[in-house]
Amino acid sequence: MKDCVFEYPKKYAIIGDSGCGKSTLLKIISGEIESYQGEVILNGVIKSKSDNLFSDIAYVNQNCFLFNDSLYNNIALGRNISVEKINYLLKVVSLSEFSADYLINEGGKNLSGGQKQRIALCRALALEKPVILLDEVTANLDINTAEKIESYLLEMPCMVIMVTHHLSENIRQKLDTVIDISN
Ligand SMILES: Nc1ncnc2c1ncn2[C@@H]1O[C@H](COP(=O)(O)OP(=O)(O)OP(=O)(O)O)[C@@H](O)[C@H]1O
Ligand SMILES: [Mg+2]
Repeated sequence: MKDCVFEYPKKYAIIGDSGCGKSTLLKIISGEIESYQGEVILNGVIKSKSDNLFSDIAYVNQNCFLFNDSLYNNIALGRNISVEKINYLLKVVSLSEFSADYLINEGGKNLSGGQKQRIALCRALALEKPVILLDEVTANLDINTAEKIESYLLEMPCMVIMVTHHLSENIRQKLDTVIDISN
C-alpha cells in the first residue's frame, strides 16, 4: 500500500472495495492491531509496537457493546459528563427521540442497528479526543441522516478519518482528502 499521511485537524475519507483493508488500516492507527508490515510515523517518530502514542484517539467501529443501564451510563462510561451534554450529543447524532435516562436492554436489544451505531458515536464524541476514527458509522442510516451527522463531524475541530462505502458529493466537498486504498 502507498504511504498515507494524516495531518491534524484535517478530514479524511478512506474508500475502497470490500476486503481491501480499510478497517484493518483503522485498527493499525488505533493500536488495536500490533502486527503489521511497514511503519506508522507520528510527529516524525516511528511508532514502536509497544508505544502508546495513540491514546488520544476515539475509535468507533461497528461493534458497540451496550449494557442494561441508562443511556447516560452507556455513553458516559463512568466519566463525569453533564446530562445536558449527553442530551446535546444525542441531538447531534439524530437520536433526539431518546433522553439520557432512557433504559437500554442488555446488548441493546430494544434498539435498531443504526441506533446502536449512533450511541457508539455519541460515546466517542463525549471523549472529546483530537483524533476520531470512524468505521462505517453511518452505514445503516438513511442518506439524509447520514449526511447530517457526517456534516457535523466534518466541522469539528479535530482530525477525522472516516471509512465509508457511500460518499455523497456534498460530503466529498467537505473532506480534505479522499484516500482510495484499493490495490
Ligand atoms: N483478524 C484477521 N485475521 C486475518 N485476516 C483478517 C482479519 N481481519 C481482516 N482480515 C482480512 O483482511 C482483509 C481486509 O479486511 P478489512 O476488514 O480491513 O476490509 P475492509 O476494507 O474493511 O472491508 P469491508 O469494506 O467489507 O468492511 C480481508 O481479506 C480480511 O479477510
Ligand atoms: Mg471494514
